[in-house]
Amino acid sequence: MSRASFNINSSSSENPAEPEVDAGAEQTRRTLLLGALATTACLGCSASARAGEDPPGSDERPQKGDVLVFSEGDQEGKLITAADLQAGGPPVHAWPKDPKTSVVRSASRLNEILVIRLDPAELDEQTRARAVDGIIAYSAICAHAGCPVTAWVKSDVGDKEVLKCMCHNSEYDPRAGAQVVFGPAPRRLAALPLAFAEGSLSVAGNFIGKVGGAQPG
Ligand code: FES
Repeated sequence: MSRASFNINSSSSENPAEPEVDAGAEQTRRTLLLGALATTACLGCSASARAGEDPPGSDERPQKGDVLVFSEGDQEGKLITAADLQAGGPPVHAWPKDPKTSVVRSASRLNEILVIRLDPAELDEQTRARAVDGIIAYSAICAHAGCPVTAWVKSDVGDKEVLKCMCHNSEYDPRAGAQVVFGPAPRRLAALPLAFAEGSLSVAGNFIGKVGGAQPG
């Protein structure tokens, strides 16, 4: 029998060896407590070390005037232009970038954006008002439990393609402000108004709507 199980089973006040057992248990408790404190302190240290490595502004939400750069693939970090976007999708994944400081705002996953080009005639009025030449942008973070929205597939409830989160199958229609058309997501994806600046896409205002998941995954 291990010492730990012995201690647990020997907690009766009739046990003459109890003071010694309690001292051992107390020592173990203290050791565990110190270990936990050390771990917490260490996590704190590494978190601040990581934070120290991120340039200022890299975790701030997209801001008016930011440009958009590819967040993945061969072209990661390159400016996204209208010519990079295939009409009718799929979307490309992007980060906002401050053009003055060249800081890419990639320190928060909540800043990842889906940019997609659709026929302007397909967009509802509100969506068209936030778009340029049919190009629209949404948060890439699912409103259900915060998974990344990764798929561009035919909807389960219609014949059009939709933005889909594969975690629990929520679907969003980008033509209608990314409203939820299927699945458990409680609200639409946050929208990011766009404009053109010197041939490249740029952010025309803050996110409209809440960014991130409504519940833990
Ligand atoms: S996190 Fe996207 S559907 Fe659940």
